[in-house]
Amino acid sequence: MARRRKSIHGEWSSRWAFILAASGSAVGLGNIWKFPYLAGDNGGGAFVLIYLISVAVVGIPIMMAEVMLGRRGRQSPINTMRTLAAEEGLSRHWKWLGGAGVAAGFLILSYYSIIAGWTLAYVFHTGSGTFTGASAEAVSTAFNDFVADPERLLAWHTIFMVMTMVVVSRGVRSGLEQAVRYLMPVLVLLLLLLVGYAMNTGFFIEGLKFLFSPDFSKITGWGILAAMGQAFFSLSLGMGAIMVYGSYLPRRASIARSSINVAIADTSVAILAGIAIFPIIFANGLNPGQGVGLVFKTLPLAFGQMPGGVFFGTLFFVLLLFAAWTSGISLVEPAVAWLVENRGMTRVKASVLVGAATWLLGLGTLFSFNIWSDYTLFGKMTFFDALDFLTANIMLPAGGLLIAVFAGWLMSRKASMQELAIGNDAGYRAWQFLVRYITPLAVIAVLLHVTGVMKWITA
Ligand code: PHE
Repeated sequence: MARRRKSIHGEWSSRWAFILAASGSAVGLGNIWKFPYLAGDNGGGAFVLIYLISVAVVGIPIMMAEVMLGRRGRQSPINTMRTLAAEEGLSRHWKWLGGAGVAAGFLILSYYSIIAGWTLAYVFHTGSGTFTGASAEAVSTAFNDFVADPERLLAWHTIFMVMTMVVVSRGVRSGLEQAVRYLMPVLVLLLLLLVGYAMNTGFFIEGLKFLFSPDFSKITGWGILAAMGQAFFSLSLGMGAIMVYGSYLPRRASIARSSINVAIADTSVAILAGIAIFPIIFANGLNPGQGVGLVFKTLPLAFGQMPGGVFFGTLFFVLLLFAAWTSGISLVEPAVAWLVENRGMTRVKASVLVGAATWLLGLGTLFSFNIWSDYTLFGKMTFFDALDFLTANIMLPAGGLLIAVFAGWLMSRKASMQELAIGNDAGYRAWQFLVRYITPLAVIAVLLHVTGVMKWITA
């Protein structure tokens, strides 16, 4: 029965189309904006190492599980989970896992859109030559003044939300494949150009050392949680984005190979961004741990100094915007697919509804950088910090944990084997071992450690 199920939303034209779309979802602000500042805030090397290990032993197996569940269910994550649970004779409440994913996607997009708005603004700032020859201080001040102005942020946030919902309302497949196929390679080329620039700063080795020589005394329990959370965030896991894309995957495509390709592409972009940014930071005497503004305060400096910088800088922010766009689309696709399936809405109506709600919630993050910056939760988190923490560090890992439990323990071996179709038994068993034991244990250990329970148990 599962074999004959078809998605009412259509199918990718090939395995490559899926890889492109999933990479489009994975590669985004998470790689270029978030990874560098998290690495900077958490002391560099040790954070990067834990991040890489998380991608390999937690990220790839969960990505395979998500794609597998999606392809077998062929519906939005909520209905996929419901259908698959029924097929295995399990509780219908598994649909709530899909529901939690929809909620996480909505929460993430609400702040993602604000940062994407910054990117959009920087297309114009760079394009108009604002940063040409500017000092580190001037570039920093420009950023601080920009985020202090709610009206400007509002305009960019609104434009990005409209852009995203226009594509979603037309169906994710049209246009997305093409956009990713041509734009992503150019983004990588520009990152390489920046790496070339970084090599000439005289601080290249220092940057590499910061990123790759782990100093475990610099990392805390929170840092470890952040590294694992970042693996989920960057690979778009734990909320159904990859599951919904998996539901459009053609029957015969290899899930293992596709997932590994996506993970490699995603991780390479993040590492390249890090290699480009840290030498620039050290060359200008900047502090690597300065948080969310990091890339916006460093890359314009490089563009301001290199020949042709206005052109390359503008192009870079345009491509980053595209990367953010293709990720933003995947954040709402589970919600929109569900509204179409269960509420009988047209895609357009569903998109308008979800877009409007996300836009509204986004105002919380927008104001947290200016007029509400003094309002904090749990001591020191702004609204943005709290949303980011709740989604990337709690909801995505917890969602991934439940996906692993479902795919590894509850789904029949026959079903997962048939759907994954790895071909060799050792490969299947390796995957099963990872999702059954390693992934759940790693996620639980990190969550417990951070909530202090572990300390209490071992005391
Ligand atoms: N992976 C995206 C990024 O790195 C963000 C994202 C998270 C997209 C979760 C979809 C789901 O920018």
